[in-house]
Amino acid sequence: MIFYKKFKIIFTLIMTPLSSIPALAIDPHSFAIPAEAVVQKLYLNINVDFGKKTINGKAQWTIKKSESAKEIHFDTKNILIEKVTIDEIGNPWKFAWGKEDAILGHDLIIPLKNNTTVVTIFYSTSPDAAACQWLDQQQTAGKKLPFLFTQCQAILGRTLFPCQDSPGIRFTYEADVKVPVEMIALMSAENPIEKNRTGQYHFRMTNPIPSYLMALAVGDIQYQSIGERTGVYAEPSMLEKSAYEFIDMQKMLENAEKLYGPYRWGRYDVLVLPPSFPFGGMENPMLTFATPTILAGDRSLVSLVSHELAHSWSGNLVTNANWNDFWLNEGFTVYFERRITESLYGKDFADMEAYLGMDDLKETLKEFEKTPNATCLKLKLDGQDPDDGMNSIAYEKGYALLLLIEKTIGRVALDAFLRKYFDSNAFQTMTTEQFLIYIEKNLFSKFPGAEKKVNIKEWVYKPGLPQNCPIIVSERFNDVNSQFQKWMNGLSPENLRTANWTTHEWLNFIDKLPTQVSMTRMTQLDSVFKFSSTGNAEVAEAWFLQSLIHNYTPAYIFMEKFLIEVGRRKFLMPLYKEMMKTKYGKELATKIYKQARPNYHFVARQSVDELLNWKN
Ligand code: BES
Ligand code: ZN
Repeated sequence: MIFYKKFKIIFTLIMTPLSSIPALAIDPHSFAIPAEAVVQKLYLNINVDFGKKTINGKAQWTIKKSESAKEIHFDTKNILIEKVTIDEIGNPWKFAWGKEDAILGHDLIIPLKNNTTVVTIFYSTSPDAAACQWLDQQQTAGKKLPFLFTQCQAILGRTLFPCQDSPGIRFTYEADVKVPVEMIALMSAENPIEKNRTGQYHFRMTNPIPSYLMALAVGDIQYQSIGERTGVYAEPSMLEKSAYEFIDMQKMLENAEKLYGPYRWGRYDVLVLPPSFPFGGMENPMLTFATPTILAGDRSLVSLVSHELAHSWSGNLVTNANWNDFWLNEGFTVYFERRITESLYGKDFADMEAYLGMDDLKETLKEFEKTPNATCLKLKLDGQDPDDGMNSIAYEKGYALLLLIEKTIGRVALDAFLRKYFDSNAFQTMTTEQFLIYIEKNLFSKFPGAEKKVNIKEWVYKPGLPQNCPIIVSERFNDVNSQFQKWMNGLSPENLRTANWTTHEWLNFIDKLPTQVSMTRMTQLDSVFKFSSTGNAEVAEAWFLQSLIHNYTPAYIFMEKFLIEVGRRKFLMPLYKEMMKTKYGKELATKIYKQARPNYHFVARQSVDELLNWKN
């Protein structure tokens, strides 16, 4: 079937007059056949029902079709279709179901008349739609009202609305959203800054975006401005803390523009979500969604905002054509993120993050020793859930490649190249292959010898880390190292010089602990530095991991609380993985997960279920 589909597309691409619809790369994770019929514009009119935990209403798509197209394909998963119409009166029109797949969902096929330009689908989501997390009041900071947020990347959009769920397909949208009157609705669009009395909100996104960037949040949320074009949304009790943490947002935006050109999305705001949000951040256009675990109180974790902001260029403006090219989104974004961080907080600060990133990458490379193909930048996720390919390879190997290019040709040349890359490919998609041609033509051809030095094809298509990978050094970690050596030589923790350390130094210190540390010394560290009870989630997670490795049981009670409250997958996985290594640990993991699971979003649940072999 998939083979047939590919054949059909190739055939269609050859036969379609090139003038009508631009050729798109084939996306193995979508049923859409954009060369035949593709969406352009969406009008969404929906009602958010907290009682039923469903969203229902209509998705009205303006489409473009080739002359010969007889039907249009939409991706759906776990969605109830009530009616389809293709006329203005609203007469029911026929539709059919195509292939169904456990990962991809169900192909919704709507026949088209020759002159059809609008297709309206009346639908309802399911209460367990993977994109939606419905939180009850207890799971919020305010504990008074329930909360809903969505997460569509990579292919969960199809559980939220019938769409052509491929990053290569873009559309503009408007939406009317009805929510309970005590709540406000926010989307990846121009947003309201306060509640109104009707519970009815209108949204507009005038730039074309792919479906994975659709987003909705509903709850008791307030707004505070930070700068002219920037601000923060959060539950009322979290607002002040959030505004304090993100004080530099406006400067971040300005510095980003100085690097790679104008910000094309109007405003840039951040929404701080309840702690079950499964990611650190999500680059929903105009409104980044963020975990509250970055509110460290000392602004040390705000690079996450630089990261999501950077996606406004790499990802949201120039978008990976499909999930096999994910590194084009994330690798570039990590590079850009670190440049923003450097411009605001200095090179020594950004270097710490690069160093920790490299640690992560080495860890991941070890994990994939037996499946080395997963460590190529270009992925082959056909037949697999794209979520499986989303690890630090795309981020940190991608970053290392860009750093190597920087070191080979110089910053000035790389910056000019990147700026042009974003400008000339704005609102378009990019495959790895197109990028290789683009960089050859616009960069390597101008620097004799550079291509050979970089050997980009090895980076992209070969597993592991190439020999020419730049070595990352961090001055500030040299200082950590010298303190660490003193501790190793017996100096007690209170005599270490740690006064000016931020999160990163602590992470580096904790990561260094050798396999054998006595209970007394673990206890000493904990009582002096208060690791177990720290409010800094990054430090807590690193410490809990060491506590598991060293059987330091006094930390477990804190870890349990942490795992029940926080649903950020990056923190969950290493801890559960470590627990699964021993019999006692397995029992502990099972006990904790039983309590924690209802609090986790679908994507976190899916990963932990698999790890623990969890059956409902
Ligand atoms: N776009 C990603 C999050 C994502 C990736 C969601 C793949 C679904 C599938 C986002 O930009 C991201 O990379 N978030 C990171 C934070 C970042 C600072 C590395 C995260 O969530 O940890
Ligand atoms: Zn990212």
